[in-house]
Amino acid sequence: MCGIVGYTGENQAAPILLDGLKRLEYRGYDSAGLAVRDGDALAEVVKATGKLYHLADKTDQGRSLPGNCGIGHTRWATHGDPSLINAHPHVSGNCSGSGSGKVESDVVGVHNGIIENYGELKEKLLRHGYLFYSDTDTEVVVKLVDYYYKKYKIGPVDAITRTMVRVRGSYALALMFKDHPGEIFAARKDSPLIIGTAENAAFLASDVPAILKYTRSVYYIGNLQVARLSPGSVKFYDLNGDEITLPLTEITWDAEAAEKGGYEHFMLKEIHEQPAAVRDTLGSLIKDGKIDLTAAGITDDILLSLSQIIITACGSAWHVGIAAQYVIEDMAKVPVRVELASEFRYRSLPMSKNILVIVISQSGETADSLAALRLAKEKGAETLAVVNVVGSTIAREADHVLYTLAGPEIAVATTKAYSAQLVALDALAVQMALVKGTVSAEQYSHLIEELIGIPDKITRVLEDKERLQWFSSKIANAHDIFFIGRGLDYAISLEGSLKMKEISYIHSEAYAAGELKHGTISLIEKNTLVIGVLTQSQMIEKTISNMAECKSRGAYLMGVTTNGNFAGEDSVNFTVYIPRTDEHFVSSLAVVPLQLLGYYTSVNRGLDVDKPRNLAKSVTVE
Ligand code: G6P
Repeated sequence: MCGIVGYTGENQAAPILLDGLKRLEYRGYDSAGLAVRDGDALAEVVKATGKLYHLADKTDQGRSLPGNCGIGHTRWATHGDPSLINAHPHVSGNCSGSGSGKVESDVVGVHNGIIENYGELKEKLLRHGYLFYSDTDTEVVVKLVDYYYKKYKIGPVDAITRTMVRVRGSYALALMFKDHPGEIFAARKDSPLIIGTAENAAFLASDVPAILKYTRSVYYIGNLQVARLSPGSVKFYDLNGDEITLPLTEITWDAEAAEKGGYEHFMLKEIHEQPAAVRDTLGSLIKDGKIDLTAAGITDDILLSLSQIIITACGSAWHVGIAAQYVIEDMAKVPVRVELASEFRYRSLPMSKNILVIVISQSGETADSLAALRLAKEKGAETLAVVNVVGSTIAREADHVLYTLAGPEIAVATTKAYSAQLVALDALAVQMALVKGTVSAEQYSHLIEELIGIPDKITRVLEDKERLQWFSSKIANAHDIFFIGRGLDYAISLEGSLKMKEISYIHSEAYAAGELKHGTISLIEKNTLVIGVLTQSQMIEKTISNMAECKSRGAYLMGVTTNGNFAGEDSVNFTVYIPRTDEHFVSSLAVVPLQLLGYYTSVNRGLDVDKPRNLAKSVTVE
């Protein structure tokens, strides 16, 4: 999982490439590299380990690298350590070092994805005299392209298509050939890649924000397709090497949307963008007071025919699935199973046309979620993707797509995409309940009104952020935090706990409140923080009892509850109140203080909030 960029045009390439990589750093940030060509001169490769600024420093922000054509890469290690040798670009030549400096090689390239049969291909290339300096699968691909290029004396496009036929796995590849100055060749299968064009320039990138400053005209290159970029011109080819035409898309959202907009971190900005993300997502699904899912291809007939729903996803998107399970089952009385996408394939779940498999994914590129989607399709289920990134692989492959309109999310820890997913699933639940006849027309209208009211209520929760900032300074040195709740409150606890641990590195766990006493309570000691989510009226008292059990063993208590009489006021040390709403939808409000708590705790601990260690935003490896 990595980010790649490419530029060819009239301007100096390196600063443009570094700028693009900066916007792709969320895809990986353990090393980075550039290869730039100055006219006919050999490509010069520069690499640096660690975050991107090391590479920028090494090249004087790109200024010390002359040339108008180049490719760049930011890495999240899969094959081989995050070392200089394994950093991209990689070269086809038998060089002794790490492939840095002026490279004699015929081919130099960057890659995002995983080549599954790289071991077997490496053996073959070793037999043909190729030597390898890195542990990467990428070096194998670059050398394989070089091998075909020379063996058959064919052009770059044919050498690439031959390679594509031979490799198994996923890739977005950008290659430069010594004999083709000013040109970049790209190929894609199952890893994201877009191509941009502008007057006398062409770009490529793993994601749109990387090039939005320079162009809004973008091609979404398809699976098993090749692109040939030269200044002001882009050509596309299929696997046969035949030229094909792709539609040009104009990006309508603003580059500003991908910037921090005055906030200290992307995460804080994205937390504050939640009212808009939720409003926009609901706005696309609610028309004239009614929920309309037909744009996503979900008709009332489909909803009526469903006997079961299976939701599959990873990380926070899986937590959305857990919340949706409670809402759909309670509202529409349809059984829902929620499966981790990484486990989905290991279960022999029966599938049929009247089972809807919903894959939830912000990026639309998560490898496990994609694999789960493909399996569900293969087994004959109807599939719906709830995805944020337009044109992503999961969006393209599912039978139906419901887009969340959260806009680009940059912080690794998701917030606004999570909230947009949550209301999208809520809307689906409400419509299904109407179609299945489990709510009356009057209840239906009321539920829609409640949904529409959520964005303003999130804004009100955000207004309480100073108290959370204050509280987080008190807990910044905590060793363990437990999040507990029952029903939907448990689903929110899962997300609250993940937010805390992934960015503050404080160990935290989420437990169904009733389960705590079956073992975990032995971990509670003096001053252990226990956070109770207390929004489901039927269960509040029970969870408060569980919190009291912890308090009597020394725990310090925080509660998140709805405005009104709160029975736990005297026993809970710090309480956050959220506005009232229909209890099915309260998760959208309860999650916000927990996001803020994770955020401020990370800030208080002086950590890199937007890029927590060992994580990446888009996990395109299984
Ligand atoms: C990564 C991110 C999580 C995200 C998960 C699933 O682990 O750090 O925030 O929830 O992937 O990503 P997706 O793009 O499929 O929603």
